[in-house]
Amino acid sequence: MQRFSLARSRMWWLPLALASGLWLAGCHSAPESTPRGSVAEKYADYFSIGAAVSAWHFDHTPDALARDFNRLTCENAMKAQNIHPTEATYDWTEADRIADYARERGLKLTGHTLLWHRQAPDWLFAGVTAGDSESLELLKSRLKSQIEAVINRYADVVDNWDVVNEAISNASGKVYRDRSEQSQWYELFGSEEYIYWAFQYARDALEAIEPGSSLGKLYYNDYSVTAKVDKILTMFDWLESRGIRVDGIGFQSHENMTWPSANDLQGAFDKFASAGYKIKISELDVTVYSDSAAPEVPYTPALETAQAERFATLFSVYRKNKASITSVTFWGVSDDHSWLNNQPVVGRDDYPLLYKDANTPKAARAAIMDF
Ligand code: GLA
Repeated sequence: MQRFSLARSRMWWLPLALASGLWLAGCHSAPESTPRGSVAEKYADYFSIGAAVSAWHFDHTPDALARDFNRLTCENAMKAQNIHPTEATYDWTEADRIADYARERGLKLTGHTLLWHRQAPDWLFAGVTAGDSESLELLKSRLKSQIEAVINRYADVVDNWDVVNEAISNASGKVYRDRSEQSQWYELFGSEEYIYWAFQYARDALEAIEPGSSLGKLYYNDYSVTAKVDKILTMFDWLESRGIRVDGIGFQSHENMTWPSANDLQGAFDKFASAGYKIKISELDVTVYSDSAAPEVPYTPALETAQAERFATLFSVYRKNKASITSVTFWGVSDDHSWLNNQPVVGRDDYPLLYKDANTPKAARAAIMDF
């Protein structure tokens, strides 16, 4: 009860910060970039704690950002459509703002994402015809210069890159997402070959900045990873046979209240860890809906408690796997600004994060701090 009444106060974090500051002085040392009393500080001996952000957060909730996190991901700002809207124009404004914020505070960024079949601008594919090797070279050179430009601008502050996002098929019996699952990349290359080139270009761009600096930074990112483990490992083996060592797997982790189970998650972690891959939780949120068509529900105290227990379970599995997990990033900060309020149902309120609004932490935040 104590936690809940503190949480209701707008200054709930002050005593926490003071107390943990004193405790911190005598115990372990978090990097200076880790805010005192934060979730990141509590997890300093486990993994870094991030949030996906946009300019909206700087304009509306800067205090909340400064409170809990020691890493950031650009929610959209580094995606090709946003950062490279026409072939002749890069728009660095929002990504620069986020990168500068991180640089000033000594935070790290996740580079998200260098290649995705969604949020890719039309010009990237214009004039390219499947099966025409000359136009395929054009597509490869566009991909290469796009990847080089983004890496060159942010290599100093990005410590890991989502090189490719969501290239694995959801369909059973098929490894790679193809044209039937909206991948223009697969369609134009006529195969999964584009994945190889994205990793190759990313590695070369980093190595050109500083030899050896690509090591440990190249990730593949996807959703429903527990259901795709074997396909992803097949892809990693294929890349390895082509001379590309992927460093790790990003579990997006857009979870619901029951799926995936702790056992399924542990099983997936075990498979990647035993094959030598690092793991990150890259886009964590927990929807309260298990059915995409379910009507909106109110966020009752009982639901808040049940969701807090779900977060506690997830984090206890994460903590057990700290040897493999490098970071846990939430896909946003507060429920009042989450993509899930508009997807899959426009205007249906969801409650998937640690805060209700910038100043109102939820039971979930207390639950993941309670160990
Ligand atoms: C995927 C992408 C993210 C984001 C979410 C929805 O998970 O990787 O960048 O677009 O969908 O917001």
